[in-house]
Order: sequence, then C-alpha cells, then structure tokens
Amino acid sequence: MDHFSTTRLTAERLNESHLADLVTLHLDAEVSRYLGGVRAPEVTKTYLATNMAHWDQHGFGLWTLRTKEGAFAGRAGIRHILVDDIDEIEISYAFTRACWGRGFASEIATALTEIGLSKLALASLIGIVYAGNVASRRVLEKSNYLLERSTIRHGNDVVIYRKRR
Ligand SMILES: CC(C)(COP(=O)(O)OP(=O)(O)OC[C@H]1O[C@@H](n2cnc3c(N)ncnc32)[C@H](O)[C@@H]1OP(=O)(O)O)[C@@H](O)C(=O)NCCC(=O)NCCS
Repeated sequence: MDHFSTTRLTAERLNESHLADLVTLHLDAEVSRYLGGVRAPEVTKTYLATNMAHWDQHGFGLWTLRTKEGAFAGRAGIRHILVDDIDEIEISYAFTRACWGRGFASEIATALTEIGLSKLALASLIGIVYAGNVASRRVLEKSNYLLERSTIRHGNDVVIYRKRR
C-alpha cells in the first residue's frame, strides 16, 4: 500500500526523496518536543534508512503526508516497536507546525487504524505518548484507543493506549 489518501491529505510510502522535508521537520524544537528532542540531519538520515527497511521487511511502515495542494505536512505510519521487551505495533504521526490544530492528526489516526486493524488484520495497535502530550492523547482517545498503562521509556514518562480489532 504505497499510497493512500484521506479527505484532506495524501500519503506516499517513505523514500529517499523525502529526506530534506524530514530533516526540517525533525529540526523543529516544538515538533520534536515529545519525540525525543531535535534530531541532527545525520540522525534523520539513519531514521529514513531504518524506516525504509521496515517497509521492505514488513510490507507497511511510514508514509510522508502532503496537503491536497502538495505542501509537505508531516509523516505518519504503522510500525513495530519494542516496548518493555514486547514486540508491539504502533501508530505514529508528526505534523509541521503550520498544520497543527486543523484536525489532520485525528484524520490520519482514523485512516491508520483502519489500515492496521482491517486491511492488515493486526490484532491490536498501540499509541505510545509522552504523558504530557495532551494533543496526541486526545487524538488517540478520539479514535477510541483505551488507556492501558504508564511506563518509562528512554527516561520519559509515557502512556500506552491500545485499540483491538
Ligand atoms: C500532536 C499532534 C500530532 C496533534 O496534531 P493536530 O493535527 O494538531 O491534532 P488535531 O487537530 O487532530 O487535534 C486533536 C485534538 O487535540 C486537541 N488539541 C490540540 N492541541 C492541543 C493542546 N495543545 N492542548 C490540548 N488539546 C489540544 C484538539 O482540540 C483536538 O481535540 P478536539 O477535537 O476534541 O477539539 C501535533 O501537534 C504534532 O504533530 N506534534 C508534534 C509531534 C508529536 O507530538 N506527535 C505525536 C507523538 S505521540
């Protein structure tokens, strides 16, 4: 599923041509606040390679998002993540600041959940969020993810939400 679209966004499977947009996104301190902090360009280059390899290995992963006008809006996807040594599958999303507060994250979370639970027939999906990231918690709650537990990840307090098929 290399492409999909929602009402207001188009999604394209991550590829090398997205590096510059991802570097800019990850250099924004506000965007990266709840993503482990600002990432240097070299770190994002490795991130891109890792996430392209995820696609090759699993047949799903991250997509780059654009508005219907073609402007880069962010990235989102479905991917494996080790949480306290357990292999989970999470939904993930991050938008450029210009795109915040317009319901885009809610729109993409709905689409990712449908892809993960219906098309890919995964048993469940999680969302893992810094406890203080109120907007992202709201996104998951609006998509009917249930709060499961709290834990500490890389030294940060996080909460885990889950939605089952
Ligand atoms: C978190 C993020 C994805 C939210 O995206 P968004 O498109 O602005 O979210 P939406 O417009 O769909 O809003 C979702 C809900 O959160 C609420 N919300 C948005 N910002 C908020 C804030 N700062 N505080 C409290 N609630 C907030 C909205 O009002 C909305 O709830 P409502 O529909 O009940 O009114 C976006 O801010 C972002 O990309 N942040 C940086 C990366 C990130 O943190 N990603 C998530 C990692 S888990």
